[in-house]
Amino acid sequence: MMKKIVFATNNENKLREAREILSPLGIEVLSQAQAGADCDPEENGTTFAENAMIKAKAVYDCVKMPVFADDSGLCVDALGGRPGVYSARYAPKGQECGKLLSELENVQDSDRRAAFRCVIAYVDRDAEFTVSGDVQGKIGYEERGTNGFGYDPVFMVGEKSMAEMTSEEKNKISHRGAALRALYDALSK
Ligand code: IMP
Repeated sequence: MMKKIVFATNNENKLREAREILSPLGIEVLSQAQAGADCDPEENGTTFAENAMIKAKAVYDCVKMPVFADDSGLCVDALGGRPGVYSARYAPKGQECGKLLSELENVQDSDRRAAFRCVIAYVDRDAEFTVSGDVQGKIGYEERGTNGFGYDPVFMVGEKSMAEMTSEEKNKISHRGAALRALYDALSK
């Protein structure tokens, strides 16, 4: 039988990526709505791990089923690691890439390094833990591609932006892909 886990998120893109990775491994990922959890906990932690655990515990308390939550963001070297845990609140939805490009307008290539980071917190009756994943890249000079979401159009890995990749290509190298595979490994032990 497939193991069922609730993904504590209201982000459809994150949900899709989690299903693409975990369904073939025998884990059915339920949305909060499917699990009947109507909650949107405040993310008032100061680290990805803290925020992920806050979300996972809040939703676990509603559904009393195995839950995982993801807190993720983009850390840009030239900005001292910003926007980091504040990535979702950096700019109005759809304007995050434009704002980032203008903040980096005069920044040279060698200083445009950035990393996406994802921490997943898992909670069930007997256990709670976190796992994480990262992907290193560079902030490009223009928005490229229409796949993905958020900062994908400006996050370059080699010659391609993450929004120019198919979801299969992105999942193979992404921070969330790595964290989801680490979650699967931890649950398989
Ligand atoms: P949160 O984890 O829901 O607090 O928000 C994370 C934010 O980081 C998202 O709203 C996106 O702006 C950004 N982000 C996280 N993962 C990705 C990704 O895979 N691609 C592009 N942007 C991402």
